[in-house]
Amino acid sequence: MSTTPQRLQITAASPDPGLLDLPWDVPLEEWPASVLAALPRGISRHIVRFARLSGRVIAVKEIGETVAYREYELLRQLSKIDVPSVEPVGVITGRRDPSGEPLEAVLVTEHLQFSLPYRALFSQSLRPDTATRLIDALAVLLVRLHLAGFYWGDVSLSNTLFRRDAETFEAYLVDAETGDLHDKLSDGQRAYDLDVARVNIIGELMDLQAGEFLDEDVDAVAIGDALAERYGELWRALTEVESFAYGDRWRVQARIDRLNDLGFDVGELDITTDVDGTTVRIQPKVVDAGHHSRRLMRLTGLDVGENQARRLLNDLDEYRAVTDRQAEDESFVAHDWLTEVFEPAVRAVPRELRGKLEPAQIFHELLDHRWYLSQQQGRDVPMEEVVASYVGTILPLRPDEQAILGGVEGDTRDHTDQLPVVPE
Ligand SMILES: Nc1ncnc2c1ncn2[C@@H]1O[C@H](COP(=O)(O)OP(=O)(O)O)[C@@H](O)[C@H]1O
Ligand SMILES: [Mg+2]
Repeated sequence: MSTTPQRLQITAASPDPGLLDLPWDVPLEEWPASVLAALPRGISRHIVRFARLSGRVIAVKEIGETVAYREYELLRQLSKIDVPSVEPVGVITGRRDPSGEPLEAVLVTEHLQFSLPYRALFSQSLRPDTATRLIDALAVLLVRLHLAGFYWGDVSLSNTLFRRDAETFEAYLVDAETGDLHDKLSDGQRAYDLDVARVNIIGELMDLQAGEFLDEDVDAVAIGDALAERYGELWRALTEVESFAYGDRWRVQARIDRLNDLGFDVGELDITTDVDGTTVRIQPKVVDAGHHSRRLMRLTGLDVGENQARRLLNDLDEYRAVTDRQAEDESFVAHDWLTEVFEPAVRAVPRELRGKLEPAQIFHELLDHRWYLSQQQGRDVPMEEVVASYVGTILPLRPDEQAILGGVEGDTRDHTDQLPVVPE
């Protein structure tokens, strides 16, 4: 413990005593490598560092005291309403250096595991449609935030983190500093957020092009515009009033099915009829994202991304059909699928390669690989063979994402050289 004349004040929901051992009397910029985790960071106004704390990694941001408390509160509210965002750990104020000079307050958040800033994604060899897939993910995040009444104020790729979710990405809010939570957002507020997003994204993509991380043929403006389009489609699907004749009541279920396909559950659906009862109007009032991930969680306890869950559930359905157990209780079958299919496949991947990707993402890739091998060989290739081939030929070539993310215990290699230079 330091003996400096600082009087730290730590505000945290469940403070970790290990927090006290970090060198708060040293400006963040000068923190020793021994406490830091070398991970990719996005662009930021403030100084941000990742530090190791009790076997996990935290993100520490130096920021004004008032703003730190505000952002902490907002992140707490966001995590309560279950919108994908980084988890707040606490705020620390009262820092002083050994000569008694005051130092800036910090906001501490949990480092979001397996997340990648967009710049790190563009530094890897990528599929050409990556930018579009990031925009799709951001559109989903923005719709979810807006449905919850959250006005972001500074939507950008830099203020978002991305996690792989099967073929797609899932976006998380990382910077809530300019945000505000309301009961309900006006159309004007939503439109403003979209405008800011568009301008920021176009700028960020052009920046990547200038740095030769993104092909100059990619139309940055069109991708910026695509955000508003994707957002609009999703917003309408989730909120629009639909009217139809009384005889077309099947459209109620059709609407619910469509929302489920988009990955949303309908918590509350408003149904009204007109006076003579010939027309029905329906409008979803409460929709919750995570239709497939919730179902998979209920059946297997696996907590994975929405599209990973979709993929895993399909495999579970297939397993159920192949083993001819359609009549059985789904949760029993799910348990067997977990212990006989999912776990053995993931465990067959050698430990040293497991840091490459999240288990559910590995399984998703195994399913792709099984499809590929089966096509090639014109037979159903069993999972053991698929795993062997995948582990031998595909996985070693993948970038080591967990190592990039510093999640490996005792891994002291410096990975910053594999990353794009991220100016601050
Ligand atoms: N909890 C976290 N997990 C992972 N990365 C984080 C976390 N917090 C911050 N970062 C990284 O630091 C960058 C800057 O954080 P941000 O809150 O946007 O700072 P600023 O307010 O200065 O813009 C982000 O783009 C992200 O890459
Ligand atoms: Mg930021």
